[in-house]
Amino acid sequence: MTNIFEDLENGDTSFQNIFKDKTTLDHRFLPEKLVHREEQIKQIAKYWIDVLNDVTPSNVTLYGKTGTGKTAASKFAREQLLDVASRKKVFVKVEYIRCTDYTTEYQVLAQLCNKLGRDVPNRGWTKGEVVNTFRDIFKTNAFGKNLHLIVILDEIDILLDKDGDGILYTLTRTDNVSVLSISNYLDFKNLIKSRVTSSLNDKEIVFPPYGADQLSDILFERAELSFNEGVLESDVIPLCSAMAAKEEGDARYALDLLKNAGELAYDENSEHVTSEHVRMAKDRIEHNKVSDIISTLPLQQQRVLEAILLLTKQDDEITSGKLYDSYVELSKKDAVTYRRIFDFINELELLGIISTNTISRGRGKGRTNIIKLQCDQDLLETTLYSI
Ligand SMILES: Nc1ncnc2c1ncn2[C@@H]1O[C@H](COP(=O)(O)OP(=O)(O)O)[C@@H](O)[C@H]1O
Ligand SMILES: [Mg+2]
Repeated sequence: MTNIFEDLENGDTSFQNIFKDKTTLDHRFLPEKLVHREEQIKQIAKYWIDVLNDVTPSNVTLYGKTGTGKTAASKFAREQLLDVASRKKVFVKVEYIRCTDYTTEYQVLAQLCNKLGRDVPNRGWTKGEVVNTFRDIFKTNAFGKNLHLIVILDEIDILLDKDGDGILYTLTRTDNVSVLSISNYLDFKNLIKSRVTSSLNDKEIVFPPYGADQLSDILFERAELSFNEGVLESDVIPLCSAMAAKEEGDARYALDLLKNAGELAYDENSEHVTSEHVRMAKDRIEHNKVSDIISTLPLQQQRVLEAILLLTKQDDEITSGKLYDSYVELSKKDAVTYRRIFDFINELELLGIISTNTISRGRGKGRTNIIKLQCDQDLLETTLYSI
């Protein structure tokens, strides 16, 4: 008997083989070459090169919006540095920490200690004990040679926001340790107190958004690895690139569009990926994004959305006051205060789910906030009621 999977792989003609290697479209995939980021990578190298001469490198900060290649560039520079260091027998470690996974100073330091061969429990010690254990690694030459450590703190905004700048203080004041921070916001320094800014003394590297042509280059490189030859119609990559250029030059979004378009073509058993698949991919991604955001909101915030949905259906102009009444009706006893609702409204607006518009009612009547839904009404309804 033949094997159905093998038949499919070996070109059963009723089956269209779209992908050559889908893993190369995965978020975690690190390409061998990062086009249009040569300059930024060279800048990182220019600072890190000190470590090859036993000098602690400057601290570096990478800034740029989502999908501008910050994470990829830092990992690329890390691979390159570790490669030359091992050949030159320089004792350097580069540890990558994603601050969405390690959200406190304690967790980051414990993780670093563990990576460097010192056991620290995930909880239970005082912060002082962890800090001392960490510093000890560099004091005692635990490895017999002068160890240098570069810590990549990716998505650092989250950690600073939640836990303060203690982690930067500790790291920048430990001998032989250098930090590369990655931030999505240009004003990230506002989260840092001056006592830290002076010891951080960092070099800044900006990652500008990609333009449509640059995104096209990135997608062409990637498509060669991931799709079978001749599968993509000629307007597919230009369209993905143009759409992503509008979304603030986000390469992740461009790659997501391409991947989803490919999957849709595969599901349809289509021979080619077409611009129509790209348009469908766009809807699918937006749909998933909105339902992801809504389903992970805190309960009270979901109730606020539910109230907005009800009022929208009644075709009412939604003022904050009306919204609050409707919300209280829904929540009954555990309703939060009117003031809290304003915070919720702000957050929902930041997430792009609603918009607000302040209008003046005329002299002496003050101003009113008008709230409008910005996502698809049916999508909101199905998501809310499926929770
Ligand atoms: N210049 C580039 N060449 C190839 N792929 C890139 C490039 N820039 C970004 N990417 C890809 O786009 C996605 C998003 O990049 P990432 O480094 O995660 O962005 P950021 O960290 O700035 O949000 C990743 O899958 C990455 O591999
Ligand atoms: Mg990143």
